[in-house]
Amino acid sequence: MESLKILYDDALVPKDQILKIAEEIKPEIERVREALSKGYEDDRASVNLLDDEEMLNTVKRTIEEKLRLEPKCLIVIGIGGSNLGTIAVQEAILGKLYNLSSPPMNVLYADTVDPNLIYSIMKIVEPVLRRDDNVLLNVVSKSGITTETVANFRILLDMLRKYKKDYKDYIVATCDRDSKLWNLAVKKGFAALEIPRKVGGRYSVFSPVGLFPLGLLGIHIRDLLNGARQMRNACVDMDLERNPAAIIASIQFAHYKNGKNISDFFFFSSDLESLGKWCRQLIAESLGKEFNRNGERVNVGITPTISIGSTDLHSVAQLYLGGPYDKLTTFVSIKDSRPPLHVPGMDEYSDLVQGIDGKSLKEILNAILEGTKEAFRKDKRPFIEISLPDKSEGSIGQFMQLKMIETMYLGHLLNVNPFDQPDVEKYKRETRRILAGEE
Ligand code: PA5
Repeated sequence: MESLKILYDDALVPKDQILKIAEEIKPEIERVREALSKGYEDDRASVNLLDDEEMLNTVKRTIEEKLRLEPKCLIVIGIGGSNLGTIAVQEAILGKLYNLSSPPMNVLYADTVDPNLIYSIMKIVEPVLRRDDNVLLNVVSKSGITTETVANFRILLDMLRKYKKDYKDYIVATCDRDSKLWNLAVKKGFAALEIPRKVGGRYSVFSPVGLFPLGLLGIHIRDLLNGARQMRNACVDMDLERNPAAIIASIQFAHYKNGKNISDFFFFSSDLESLGKWCRQLIAESLGKEFNRNGERVNVGITPTISIGSTDLHSVAQLYLGGPYDKLTTFVSIKDSRPPLHVPGMDEYSDLVQGIDGKSLKEILNAILEGTKEAFRKDKRPFIEISLPDKSEGSIGQFMQLKMIETMYLGHLLNVNPFDQPDVEKYKRETRRILAGEE
């Protein structure tokens, strides 16, 4: 499998400084290596999902079983780490406009409790059920008690029950074993897929959280895991120059220390926008912390932002090239973009924009990317480049695994725990209190 390429000549951090910082990461690289032999016992357990054949076989069996129902629509009910990875991979591989291309199975995501969103989903799905076609609900929640997920599940379950006597066959619950949701699924006879205990939401895309819905949609989940495995092996290399996660984490940390605490992901592919949203959660939730590992108040964090090329050049380029020097940019592009669409030669239109006659859209997009990089270079705005060979499962798997291990290394450099989210619990607790009518 062709590896993604990382270029950091324009990162504006001298190589000896990068390697010096990377030296500090070595104990954490050791810990990730050790985690490889600890199954699901360590916080870094997500790195072992890639080799879990038993889990993969269970997921595949459930997919086969549910495909026999010939579902016309899948609704993934989950939020945050329980759906962002799925959306990211689905849109990257199948395209953002997938549902409009008359696929055998549509996919819809019920995340927030916005009544307009859920009503729209019901308006799309009810006619399918009325035709006596089948609809699957995949309710995904690690804790099993997230307010939004449970509320949406109950509404959609209620709809399903009106049309299907055997409604339990159309529900798959993905959650922690022995959570309340798990126990309910067992009691009601829904299929249940387990999220290994130490695998947290934002590190769970390679668990049944992502694998079940993605495999159901026909995405090659084994290739996704193979890509991730190839990257994981590179990211535990003790030879730091060959370790992409250590290199990028060191560059990011050097800039953070210099006051650049914004990390912009500039994807030159519309289909990768949701991959950006997945990255945003991973970095924000893992690294934004009130206390460090010694219990001292530090209030640290890196603010991730997402931009899409070339669309957002018409929105944010002024700020990025004229505003404060507070960002490190990562340009992400795809080497092999298909299909090869060309601008047709038409004499009478040639004057509108010169130099595009006969060129492919990919060539034009590349020219815009090169132009943007050159402008950044001239302005001494630091950037890293990640070039994906293509938009295949293997490439996306590599990218996601890179970001997850890089985040673990950044957590080490910032001396924070990248696996918890104590402050997210603050609003969840308050919401539960308000809804329960407590003072
Ligand atoms: O990454 C995380 O831990 C969070 O974003 C959770 O995934 C999110 O809050 C949803 O939680 P749960 O999966 O328990 O429903």
